Amino acid sequence: MALSNSVENKHILITGGASGIGAATASLLASRGAKMTISDVNSALGETLVKQIVNAGGQAMFIYADVSDAQSVAELFNQAKANYGAVQAAINNAGIDHTPQAMHLVDDAVFHRNIAVNLAGVWYCMKQEIIQMLGNGGGHVINVASVAGLRSAPMIAAYSATKHGVMGLTKSAAVEYAKANIRFNAICPSFIRTPMVENVLANVDERVRNGMLKANPMKRLGEVEEIATALAWLCTDESSFMTGQSVVLDGGMLA
Ligand SMILES: NC(=O)c1ccc[n+]([C@@H]2O[C@H](COP(=O)([O-])OP(=O)(O)OC[C@H]3O[C@@H](n4cnc5c(N)ncnc54)[C@H](O)[C@@H]3O)[C@@H](O)[C@H]2O)c1
Repeated sequence: MALSNSVENKHILITGGASGIGAATASLLASRGAKMTISDVNSALGETLVKQIVNAGGQAMFIYADVSDAQSVAELFNQAKANYGAVQAAINNAGIDHTPQAMHLVDDAVFHRNIAVNLAGVWYCMKQEIIQMLGNGGGHVINVASVAGLRSAPMIAAYSATKHGVMGLTKSAAVEYAKANIRFNAICPSFIRTPMVENVLANVDERVRNGMLKANPMKRLGEVEEIATALAWLCTDESSFMTGQSVVLDGGMLA
């Protein structure tokens, strides 16, 4: 059985694609020949990335969408399909975190915003992805969860709850749509050097900062390229027997 390791001309949509893990992944996939739909709420960064990709000979379009808004997500998927045809692989990556804080002190609004972006956002995208993939003979949905979706994450309980929810959506959809040839997997990184994490590191005391920097046996942050390459592999047919699972990229944290 020969399985293709290529993403050439595959239409891949990524949310939160303007920064961090999303931007690194979009660039890598485009450099390997994928047709990239890059979506984000940050249009300036997203448009700049698309220009860079196109100047380097790649194929990419930027579409603004706020994943916490079902209508905005529906418009994103309609426009993406009109540009490049049905989405063949999708990476639900858009996300936010919150300032580490004891659970009883976290404002309810912070909890609800984390749910709206990280969990409802993935839900809205998955529904649109399933609709397009059902009409196109299948596809692969990859959710960016976190080690905080697999284990305790003290001081970021609201964030952790959303990522556990994403794991539930991933596993349930994998079983529901296996016969329809739609696969669902997740990746679960630990702390990765992105603007999200740099922002937290800048706003916590030294004890917490050291704890974050040395939270895994490798005693370092992950780099975005180390996540992008795993996501790029998942987007190929080489991952074809994998569904309902997660790839843990954590420097050994959960070992
Ligand atoms: N960096 C880490 O250590 C780490 C670890 C585990 C999981 N993750 C997850 O990886 C994903 C990417 O995070 P990152 O670290 O690259 O952060 P980042 O802040 O660099 O990128 C997140 C992107 O999502 C976009 N976004 C935020 N809210 C949005 C919304 N409502 N609609 C559309 N786009 C929105 C932002 O504009 C940004 O471009 C997130 O889901 C995050 O939870 C990150």
